[in-house]
Amino acid sequence: MEEGGGDPLGLLCRVGRPAKPAFCTSGQNPGGGGQLGGHRWALEGQAENRLAVPTRVRSPGPPEARQQQCRTHQPTNPKESPRAPSSARDFILMADSEPLPTLDGDPMAMEALLQDVFGIVVDEAIRKGTDASEKVCEWREPRELKQLLDLELRRQGESHEQILERCRTVIHYSVKTGHPRFFNQLFSGLDPHALAGRIITESLNTSQYTYEIAPVFVLMEEEVLKKLRSLVGWSSGDGVFCPGGSISNMYAMNLARYQRYPDCKQRGLRALPPLALFTSKECHYSINKGAAFLGLGTDSVRVVKADERGKMIPEDLERQISLAEAEGSVPFLVSATSGTTVLGAFDPLDAIADVCQRHGMWFHVDAAWGGSVLLSQTHKHLLDGIQRADSVAWNPHKLLAAGLQCSALLLRDTSNLLKRCHGFQASYLFQQDKFYDVTLDTGDKVVQCGRRVDCLKLWLMWKAQGGQGLERRIDQAFALTRYLVEEIKTREGFELVMEPEFVNVCFWFVPPSLRGKQERPDYKERLSQVAPMLKERMVKEGSMMIGYQPHGPRANFFRVIVANPTLTRADMDFLLNELERLGQDL
Ligand SMILES: Cc1ncc(COP(=O)(O)O)c(C=O)c1O
Repeated sequence: MEEGGGDPLGLLCRVGRPAKPAFCTSGQNPGGGGQLGGHRWALEGQAENRLAVPTRVRSPGPPEARQQQCRTHQPTNPKESPRAPSSARDFILMADSEPLPTLDGDPMAMEALLQDVFGIVVDEAIRKGTDASEKVCEWREPRELKQLLDLELRRQGESHEQILERCRTVIHYSVKTGHPRFFNQLFSGLDPHALAGRIITESLNTSQYTYEIAPVFVLMEEEVLKKLRSLVGWSSGDGVFCPGGSISNMYAMNLARYQRYPDCKQRGLRALPPLALFTSKECHYSINKGAAFLGLGTDSVRVVKADERGKMIPEDLERQISLAEAEGSVPFLVSATSGTTVLGAFDPLDAIADVCQRHGMWFHVDAAWGGSVLLSQTHKHLLDGIQRADSVAWNPHKLLAAGLQCSALLLRDTSNLLKRCHGFQASYLFQQDKFYDVTLDTGDKVVQCGRRVDCLKLWLMWKAQGGQGLERRIDQAFALTRYLVEEIKTREGFELVMEPEFVNVCFWFVPPSLRGKQERPDYKERLSQVAPMLKERMVKEGSMMIGYQPHGPRANFFRVIVANPTLTRADMDFLLNELERLGQDL
C-alpha cells in the first residue's frame, strides 16, 4: 500500500502509524521510553499496537493547582468530571478550583508540546515538504479526506500524542507549496529566513496598529516600505502592508476615488457621478471584485484591449476613455498590470502614464506579480515608467517567496491620504495624548482594526540575502525560464503559446494521438481535454502540480511558474519528462 494509504489517522480507534516522537532519534529510547521537555514516555500495550501514553513529569515544585491541572491533561472518566456549571457563579468557582484540561499555566508542558510539534513541522512540512523524492501532494477525495481528518470538534479534549498525530496528519494531506515540483501558483518555495520571520510573527501575535503594542514592527514596516518605494523610484511617499494583492488593488481604487471626491467618505455613493476605471482584458480579476465591493459596480470597469503578448494597448485606452466620457461617465483611474497572471505580460507603463497625465487620472500599477523584478538590474526595464504611478501593489509573497501574506500597497502621496481616507480616530485605541509620538500609530491608515505583521518575514529574508541575493534569485528564475523554453522548443509534442517575457511559461502538451492532426475539426476541443486529464493524473500520483486554463479562444494550456528559488535544470527536465510519461497513452 502506498504511504499514507488506508487509515493513517485512525486516531480515536487505534494509532496505527507508529507515532515517532520528535526526540526519538536513533540510539535513543532503547527501552521503548524516553524523556524530553518534561515528558516521560512509557510504551503501554505495545503488543496491541496501542498508543504510547505520555506521563507528564512535573516541573519542580509546582503549585498545588498546577499538579491538579497536570492530572486533568489525561482523558478523564466522565464519572469523575466536575459537575457542569449551570450558573455564572459555578463558572467563577470552577475557575478558582478546577483548572480546565489545557496547558494554560503549565510552561513546561507547553514547551514540550511546541518542541514536539516543531520537530514534526521540520521533519514533515519542511524536510519532506521540500524533498523532490517525496510527493508534492497526497490527493484524497473530499469525502474520504473528511473521514481521515476526523474533523468534528468534541467536548472531550485529546492527549498530547493524539494532538501530535493530528499535526502529522494535517501536514501529510496538505499540498507542499515549497516542493520543487509545485509550479501551480504564483507563489512557491520555502525561504528559511522568511519562515523564521513568520514563526516569530506568529509567536508574538501582535497587531500592527499601534507603536504601543508593536514598536518593533511599526518601525520595521516603515523601513521596508521605504525600501520598496525606493525601488519603484520614489524618495518619499506612504504605504501599508495589505492582506494580499487583491486588497492592495482595492485600496488603490478607494484612494483614487476619495482623492477626487473626498465627500464620498461621509456621503457614500450619493456624492459620486458615474465613474469609470480602465484596465486591460489581462488584468487580475480582483479589479472587478474591487469595483463591486466598493460600490462602483463591475459596469464601471472598462476593458482595454491587449496585444497578442497580453500588453495593454494605450491607443485603445484613449479610445475607451473617450467612449466612457461620451456615455456620461467620469474616468478616474487606470490600473496597469506589471506581470499579468496568466501570460506574465508587462503593460507599457510610460505610455499609459502619458494617457493618465493627459486626462488627470489616477495611475495604479498592479505589480503584485511582477514588482519583484525591480530588484534585478538586468530585467527591471520591464517596469520602466512605474515611478510615474500614483500607487503600486507589490506582493513579495509571490516571486520573492516571502510567504503568505506579504503584499505592499505603495503610494507616491505625501499628504496623509491613506489616513484621511480610512481613518476614524477611535479614541480607545488612537489616543492623542499618549506619551510617545502618535504618528507612529499607523493603524488608522487601513480599513482593518487588528492587522497582521507582514513586514518581518520580508525584512529578515532581505537581511539574510541582501538585495544582491534577492536579485540573483530573480535573475536565476529568468535564466531557468529560458532553459525551459528552449527545451520545450526541442521536444516533440510541446508547443509554446508564446515566447514568455517573464517566468510564466505557457504551452500545450499535444499527446501522440493528436500530433499532426491540427486540421481535424475537433482538434481544439480534444486538445482542451488534455491539460485537465494530465492535471488529474499528476495530482493523483502526487508527482507535480501545474496550473492550466483556457485563454480567450485558446484551448486549455499549461502555465508553469518558474519561481521557487531552489529550482534547477533537473527540475525543468523532470517536468517535461513527467508530462510525456503521464500523457504517452493519450
Ligand atoms: C496580477 C495580480 N494582481 C493581483 C493578484 C492578487 O493577489 P493576492 O492573491 O495576493 O490577492 C494576483 C494574484 O495572483 C495577480 O496575479
